[in-house]
Amino acid sequence: MSGALMLPAASSAAGRFDLLLLALLVLCGLMALALLVLVFSIRYRAGSPADRSGANRQHRALEYTWTLVPLALFMCIYAWAAYDYAQLFRVAPEAMPVFVVAKQWMWKLEHQNGRREIAQLHVPLGKPVRLVMTSQDVIHSFFVPAFRIKQDVLPGRYTMLSFTPTQAGRFHLFCAEYCGTEHSLMRGEIIVLPPAQFAEWLAQGAATPGIAARGFELYRRYGCSGCHEPGSSVHAPDLHGLLGRTVHLQDGRTLIADENYVRDSILLPDKDIVAGFKPIMPSFAGQISEEDIMAIIAYLREQQP
Ligand code: CUA
Repeated sequence: MSGALMLPAASSAAGRFDLLLLALLVLCGLMALALLVLVFSIRYRAGSPADRSGANRQHRALEYTWTLVPLALFMCIYAWAAYDYAQLFRVAPEAMPVFVVAKQWMWKLEHQNGRREIAQLHVPLGKPVRLVMTSQDVIHSFFVPAFRIKQDVLPGRYTMLSFTPTQAGRFHLFCAEYCGTEHSLMRGEIIVLPPAQFAEWLAQGAATPGIAARGFELYRRYGCSGCHEPGSSVHAPDLHGLLGRTVHLQDGRTLIADENYVRDSILLPDKDIVAGFKPIMPSFAGQISEEDIMAIIAYLREQQP
């Protein structure tokens, strides 16, 4: 249906969502017709001379049927949609991370090797990509119609979005959350390149130091290494191989360490105290920029075993 009628379907999610939308349209259309809503609303409209005598006032079987059959059908649609939605969060471990910082009114993106982009995102064809996004000011929303994906980008936390492009080319990127005067100008494009061409493009703009190396520098400059290195005199959790690890907290909760956990630990260190440690870490709120936190996370990710 897509292509002829509307946008290209250029990601692995697009075909699934198009099919779901088509199914919903067909089902709703059939419901309208099967229940004769259109026919009856014309035939028995107010003032029509249609014969209303001898109307059957009670027909239990009929009532059960027209209640339960649509209910079952729409529950199937619900299960199907929930399954598709869950697929969006099943991220391949080898997915290429890209950091996204939204601000009034632009998209700033940074690749793992430090190559930065503004309002453009280059990605390799057929390879999974995982965006880690945050906002410097208000709520924005990362929307790529051709990929059929949209995710709000919030200040104060990370949201994730992953996709696999299935078509080379250029696709619109929009901000889909009203974010101020120039909201409508907060546009960009996703440029999908064949993998070899992408690798070439990526290598051209490699920043020195790369994002992880910059993260390591910050890790030392902000004094993280003073407490978190295994040999340090202060007793603080070891951060090597942290991402993806299960963390047991003082209050009995457990969580899987992800980007949000690292971010919260830097800005709100009293929120999740690791079991066996004292809450002595100072907060870095107001002292460290979003980009610097992302660089430190990139450094930690590189320390994964
Ligand atoms: Cu950013 Cu609308």
